[in-house]
Amino acid sequence: MRLPLFMAGMMALVLSAGAISITHAKTDSRKDIKAAKSKPLIRGGIVYKSYCVLCHGERGDGMARATKLYGQGNLLISMDDHNYEYYEKLIREGGLPLGRSRYMPAYEDELSEEQIGDVMEYLYIVNDPVSRGEMVFMTNCILCHGVKGNGKGRASVMYDPPPADLTRSDKNDDYKRMIITMGGAAMGRSEVMPEWGLQLKDQEIEDVIAYLRTILVASPGK
Ligand code: HEC
Ligand code: HEC
Repeated sequence: MRLPLFMAGMMALVLSAGAISITHAKTDSRKDIKAAKSKPLIRGGIVYKSYCVLCHGERGDGMARATKLYGQGNLLISMDDHNYEYYEKLIREGGLPLGRSRYMPAYEDELSEEQIGDVMEYLYIVNDPVSRGEMVFMTNCILCHGVKGNGKGRASVMYDPPPADLTRSDKNDDYKRMIITMGGAAMGRSEVMPEWGLQLKDQEIEDVIAYLRTILVASPGK
């Protein structure tokens, strides 16, 4: 009787030691965060969201709240018809000098050189859901879920249960849409997971779900 009990005790010890070394995997360093957030594309997304989304829309398709106000102008961001310099000039000087709509504002006094360069980067991917979703993730989720989405964000140690490892989620897109939109509490999970429906547009939530699909290392459940 004594020996098996002793062995079971040893086993439990070995197993929990293993578990501890896993849960204590390192959280993001300041350097990780800086590297993730200082990508021009991520910074450009922030500029786009603050200055351009009102007219051009989340997807750059010209479907936005203010679009109707600008009548004939085509607000679709295609970046197909002209070269880089042309679009840069359009952003700097506005529509008029290029014989385009006067409703495209000039940004040279409002944005820094760096911001103009950054937003240019973003314009080339604004049609791509996964890239847009990456920008949503890097600007809203990494504090808890980590730069890699593995649940090892800088704030993760403060929470029990910890932020989910999104690279190994067994939840499908419908479930993710619900928990992201309504928050953890509404789903009977931790209230620490915020209710993003209050802050993010539906489109941004769809985009971040598209991005989450790309970071999965294990296949999602039904
Ligand atoms: C007040 C509304 C408004 C805002 C805000 C606005 N734009 Fe525009 N933009 C327009 C209009 C209108 C056009 C269409 C011009 C035309 O077709 O003559 C346009 C056209 C463009 C085009 C050309 C698209 C193409 O594929 O030919 C680019 C690029 C562009 N805008 C970038 C930006 C950027 C970057 C910002 C934010 C820094 C921004 N716009 C903010 C109204 C706006
Ligand atoms: C303040 C910390 C915090 C932030 C910020 C946060 N989350 Fe969470 N999230 C959590 C916690 C904690 C859980 C785990 C809840 C539980 O297990 O009860 C969670 C769970 C989730 C889940 C469920 C995953 C699964 O497999 O069950 C998804 C999906 C998710 N978060 C997505 C996001 C997205 C997307 C963002 C950014 C828009 C985000 N979270 C921002 C704390 C956070």
